Formats: sequence, structure tokens, C-alpha cells
Amino acid sequence: MITARELKRKYIEFFKSKGHIEIKSAPLIPENDPTVLFTTAGMHPLVPYLLGEPHPAGKRLVNVQKCLRTDDIDDVGDAFHNTFFEMLGNWSLGDYFKKEAIEFAFEFLAKFLKIDVNRLSVTVFEGDSDAPRDNEAIRIWKSLGIPERRIFLNPKKDNWWGPVGERGPCGPDTEIFFDTGKEKCSKDCKPGCKCGKYFEIWNLVFMEYNKTENGYELLKQKNVDTGMGVERTTAILQGKDNVYDTELFLPIIEKIRKNSKIKDIKHERIIADHIRASVFALSEGLLPSNVERGYVLRRLIRRAIRSCYVIKCDVSLLSELARVVISIYHEDYPELISKKSFIIDTLRDETKRFEKTLERGLNFFEKIVEKENYINGKNAFLLYQSFGFPLELTKEIARERRIEIDEEGFKEEYKKHQELSRTAAKGMFKGGLLDASEISKKYHTATHLLHQALREVLGDHVRQVGSNITSERLRFDFTHDKKLTKEEIEKVEKIVNEKIKEGLEVKRVDMPLEEAKKIKALGFFEEKYGKIVSVYMIGDYSKEICGGPHVDNTSKLGKFKIIKEEGVGAGIRRIKAILIQNEEYSK
Ligand code: SER
Repeated sequence: MITARELKRKYIEFFKSKGHIEIKSAPLIPENDPTVLFTTAGMHPLVPYLLGEPHPAGKRLVNVQKCLRTDDIDDVGDAFHNTFFEMLGNWSLGDYFKKEAIEFAFEFLAKFLKIDVNRLSVTVFEGDSDAPRDNEAIRIWKSLGIPERRIFLNPKKDNWWGPVGERGPCGPDTEIFFDTGKEKCSKDCKPGCKCGKYFEIWNLVFMEYNKTENGYELLKQKNVDTGMGVERTTAILQGKDNVYDTELFLPIIEKIRKNSKIKDIKHERIIADHIRASVFALSEGLLPSNVERGYVLRRLIRRAIRSCYVIKCDVSLLSELARVVISIYHEDYPELISKKSFIIDTLRDETKRFEKTLERGLNFFEKIVEKENYINGKNAFLLYQSFGFPLELTKEIARERRIEIDEEGFKEEYKKHQELSRTAAKGMFKGGLLDASEISKKYHTATHLLHQALREVLGDHVRQVGSNITSERLRFDFTHDKKLTKEEIEKVEKIVNEKIKEGLEVKRVDMPLEEAKKIKALGFFEEKYGKIVSVYMIGDYSKEICGGPHVDNTSKLGKFKIIKEEGVGAGIRRIKAILIQNEEYSK
């Protein structure tokens, strides 16, 4: 029986034999892209190369990429949807196109994996006003022996991939499905149906378009981007009708079953899937929080906790399950070992925090339902705000109990409170509903303090060469040719925290560039500046040319902490730092 690890090895070997170079998996948390939360596909880190920049490893690439997607989170619990998964991918960057891509895929499935090709069906883009029907793909599939009755045509919503955000590389795709042999769920059941009869195993994208604000334009080069799900393909290779019966999940499911009083396949699967995803997110240093990526993680953990509650197993099991996940994956992902205690401790703390309010929240839910068989927006918001129930959790419970919930009302309440939190006293929703832009302002101001402190500690040769801010951290690249010592890092932290404590006023003054240079305002991006520039002054400690925005006083920043210092190129160092907002995150 072929294991997932063997499948990965075979895939890489096969594409190497076809002239591909193996590249490393990028992190789940994209390094240079604050516009997306997680890496959702192997093509994601390759966008610049798909747009035409030459890749240092060449035009044919292959890898195994860890991915996290929450679009299908409501489907988790069925046979084959996961939030975290591994994706096998091969790429042609302006090299081969449809013929080779489809032929490679077919050869790999038929000859290497020895999959029964009579059980394969494919879907192809049917064409619309943006792009024509993919007759070429149809012709190639037929030439390989796939009969017309197993070739299905679909519109853009099913057979077009990308772009990841609003704009970027995209194109028609052809998807390969495996028939599990299960009965059709209805006479309309066909590849793409979610009933579990057809497993989508591989998606071949013909990336020849770039979506711009003016519509679809042809890309400079024609690319191929493919993605094969490790979990699903492993399941079909092992003759299983769901991914949870493979070695990737079975030990987790068995442990859950042993420790729970009620057998419920859906909730067992939710726990297994969500804990696995959380372990991988935590292994990259992500902390559960109330914003953006951290909130995705918090939602995954909270939903797993609630599922534990439903099947009557002790929530302390979750950190034990993390150990099982680590033992399944540590050979391929050594960071799981180096981060093991962080993963387990964070999971344990987060579980404890929510466990206390979960029961009270569920009681509150019951009380509402006793009065009226309906959850209105205000109550959904109360469950969110006072009991930490993410909306989807309340929705899930309501769905199970067949109770209606007013989602629009929830969103209105949420908006109202966000506005309130902007205008009302700060700290009102401690560590809670602070909006991301307020946090980015803080990080922005902290970046200026850091820049100045680095110059003070290391010397005037330090100059900013890059900066990137998310609501979770700042990242600052600067010129310096040595690793910083522990003492230097501590000194920098100390200075920044002193400046925060001093409560320095942050002022913006607009002036001609010449004037700004005269007063020695820092500014290393001359080609970007106009004649008049804004200079941000932090007390009399820092002066820097900048577009803002910033907070108006350093006392608002919280506690500054450097979490990483590393080299990123000759003579360039990178610092990642966080602002700790309140005690809750000060671990
Ligand atoms: N980008 C495509 C997908 O995610 C193929 O990798 O399905």
C-alpha cells in the first residue's frame, strides 16, 4: 500500500525526470504579502515568476507546498474537505503548455501510480465572453483515451483558477476526478458534486491571462500551474472513501474516539482537521488573537473545543492530539519539533481560556432559545463579544438545532461597536475589537523608533532598506554587516520601550525636501519623494520623511519586543518585532 510520503516522493521524482527542479515549501504565512492571510496554493509564492520575472531555479519547478484555506471550512466533516492540506505542484514558467502538462499528469497517474484510468473523469472550461472553450484540452484528453462521456464542460466558476486576490495571473483549468464507485447521489451527480462519489485529485491550470482592472489580458508568457491534493490522492490509492482513514489522520481519529463518550464522525473529523491546521499555523509562530491570521487560528481552535464538548471528551485532549500530529509529520517538517513546546503550551492556554466561557455561552444560548426560537443580531453579537463565540460557531450550533439566526443583524451590531471603539475611550474592548488600521499605525510609529534606536546603538551607517507591517508584527530590513548581539538587541528594545514610556508626541510637519534634508530628517527613498514632503517627528528623538499614518503619542504603542533578527542578504539584516497590547498577550 502506498503511503502519503511515498506519493510525495514519487511525484517529485517523476517531475525531476521530466526536467523539473524541486523548490522548498514556502511558509503558510506569506512573507511578503500582507494582502492574503495564508498560502492557499503552491502557485502563491510564485506569482512574480508567473508574471514574467525569471525564477533562479529555471522554468520547470516542482514541490510539496503546505496550504491553509478556510473557504471550505463549513464542509469540513465530510469525506474530503480539509482546512490544512499538502499540495503537490509542478510548474512551467513560459516553457511547456497544455499538451505536455496533460500528458505528464496522465502518465504519472496511469504509469507511476497505476490508477485505473477507467475511473478517471475530467472537467474542462466551456468558454465565455472572456476566453474561448478549451477545445485543445478536450482534444488532448481524447487522444489519451478519455472518452467524451467522461469529459465535462463547466463555466468559469468551476473551471477557471485565480487570481488569488482581485488581480493577477489566472486562466482556464482542467480538473481530474476519481470515481470512488459510490452510487450517484442523484441523476445530476457528476464530477464536482460534493456527495463523495467523485474525488477531485488534480487541477491543471493554464495560466495565460492576467486579470487587471481593465479585464483579462494575455500574459507575457504561458504558464502551467498544477495542484494535486496529497490527502485525497493518498485516500484513493489506498482504496479509502475518505481522507480520515489514511495514516495522515487515523491515529488522530483513534485517539479522539478512545477519549470521547459519544461517537460522531463529523465532530471527530472537525477536531482532527482543525487541530492539524492549528499545529501547522502555530509551528510558524502564529498566536491566536482577535485579528486577521490570529483570529483564523483562534476560530479553528474554538470550533475544535466545541466539537470536543459535543462528543463529550475532555478538552485537554487537544494538546495531546497536537503531539500525534507532530509525530505524523515531523520528518517532513522539522519545525514541528523545534516548536513543539510552543505549540502545545499555546494550545493548552488557548483551550483553558475558552473552556471557561464556552459552557456559560452555551447556557446563554439555551436561555435565548427558551424565550424565542431565534437568535437575533444582538444576541449573536453578545455571544461573540462576551463569550468569545465566533459567528460561524453560533451558526453551526443554530444549524444543528434548526434555529434561525440573523447574520445581517450580527454584522450591523459588529459595525456599530467598531465605530464606538474608534471614538470611545481606548481599551474599551481590551485586546478585542481593535481594528487593524489602528494597530498598523502603532507598528508604523514603532518602526520609526526602531530605526532611530538602531542608529543609536549600531551607528549612523544603519539605513532602512525595507519595511513591512501587518496587524501582527513589523518587519524592518536595514544595512548592517554583522549579526546583532544579544546585548545590542536588548539595548534597542530598551530604548524603544523608554521612548514609549516617555509618551512622546508624534507630529507631522510638511516642508520642502531641501528643508527636510537640512534638519537631517531620515529619508532614504529620494526617488519616491515629491518637492514637498511630510516629516514625522517623535518628540525630539526621531525625524523621518514618511507618508504616515502614525499614532499621535508613543504612549499608545504597548510593549515593544524583538522576536527575530536574521540576515537576509549581503550586509542586510532583518528584524521582526511585535507590540504587546495587554497582559493577555504578554506570554
Ligand atoms: N492553483 C491551482 C489550485 O490551487 C493549482 O495549483 O488548484
